[in-house]
Amino acid sequence: MFPSKRPSSEVEVDDHEKDALFTRDAKRRIKEHGKTVATSTDESTVASQSLSYPPKNRPVKPVAIQYPTRLLTFSYDADRTLHFDDSAMKYFVNPPMNADLKYGYTRWIKRPEEKGRIDGLLKAMVKYCQDLDSSSGTLQDQSDGKPSSQWLRQMRCVSWRGVMTKTLTALYEERDGWELNVMHINNLLYLEEHLSDKRLAEKEDMTPYHRQLSYYGYSFESFSTSSQPYQPERLPGHPPGWSGDVNTNVQWCSVVKTKLGSHRLLIGGEVDCVTAKQGHGSAEYTPDNYVELKTSMAIRGANDEVKFERKLLKFYFQSFLLGVPEIVVGFRTPQGRVVSTQTFKTMELPRLVRGKPHGWDPHLCMHWGDIFLNFLLQQIPSGKKADKTHEVWRAKFIPGTGVTMKLLDEAEVQEVRAGEDRVGFLPRWYFHTIDDLTDPGPP
Ligand code: A3P
Ligand code: MG
Repeated sequence: MFPSKRPSSEVEVDDHEKDALFTRDAKRRIKEHGKTVATSTDESTVASQSLSYPPKNRPVKPVAIQYPTRLLTFSYDADRTLHFDDSAMKYFVNPPMNADLKYGYTRWIKRPEEKGRIDGLLKAMVKYCQDLDSSSGTLQDQSDGKPSSQWLRQMRCVSWRGVMTKTLTALYEERDGWELNVMHINNLLYLEEHLSDKRLAEKEDMTPYHRQLSYYGYSFESFSTSSQPYQPERLPGHPPGWSGDVNTNVQWCSVVKTKLGSHRLLIGGEVDCVTAKQGHGSAEYTPDNYVELKTSMAIRGANDEVKFERKLLKFYFQSFLLGVPEIVVGFRTPQGRVVSTQTFKTMELPRLVRGKPHGWDPHLCMHWGDIFLNFLLQQIPSGKKADKTHEVWRAKFIPGTGVTMKLLDEAEVQEVRAGEDRVGFLPRWYFHTIDDLTDPGPP
């Protein structure tokens, strides 16, 4: 049923063709009353600071996306403190059949909904740079700056995996819009999801039913993971396989670099667990062992199958972007009982839906993602910290339409800062180091 594994170096490598929607005119920016306005010869595709969807039925030239390379991992503990270790890493184990996903619901310690800050990712990026410099020692030719500066200068965008997944899958999103705050400093884009206080309150205010549904996924994680490879937990007073009450503050994260078109991306995100290879010790794992866990309603008919296959789009990019090769889906009853599990190879998902009326094409998503990043890079002037440029822009995605963008005014930037010690949405400690880290140097 499944196609053979593709080479893991690159997917759909092709020439890095520039986006055809951006004509020479569209790329020309005109400074007007402090705002940037794009002009276009093709009104249907590019209007002033807005980007419309390309049609989904027209073939596109494939945009290369590189298989991600892991840079480092880190853990958040129960108090949400970040540690550069693997203390939150867990091993995959088969969950018990008929496991009750409602188990432990009243003891769930739920991480409060919070703004989409990228502080943890920035800390990891700085740590990676420091390690790079110290491991390079004095052997490296430093005439072009420190090794980390040389390396970082190639990066174009930093974001959490969730933001990048939303961006790439926007073409097929019919319901949920999103907003991003964007800063562009020293030729590096920083993206955070914009969640206003009102939006955060709405997210926190889930109906009991939705809260329960949301819990099923975390409960499945507890039943499907263990602190020991191959050994489901057996905790006194709990059902077999339960590996501990759910605290959604705890996360194990991986930071990777990848490349979409010509844009090098730095992405971080949570990895649910790893499979230890047979015959290897407990510490032997690589991204090849990463596993994503998902729950879904058991498929009872054609309609359910269509729904599930639509959902695979998000599963695909969510996993692909961190280099997670396997997704274990726990199918459940409406009452939250696990009835079966199925393992999917991430790279094989597109072929499962290809040609179906509800199918999705990852090439269109990558093409759109490339257009979107070009749009941000071209519309937002890159500031230098030295110029005291710390503009914040807002990209707003409207399902079925596309993206609009605007420069925030001072009151809006204040809302983004939310009374915290930040420049725009970047933590001040990071902003202080930004030129040292990413200064492009003299022209
Ligand atoms: P499922 O994916 O099994 O539904 P993720 O797999 O993306 O790391 O998410 C883990 C779990 O978080 C999800 O499990 C779900 O329970 C919960 N979750 C993720 N996104 C959510 C959302 N937008 N609303 C409610 N719950 C969500
Ligand atoms: Mg998961």
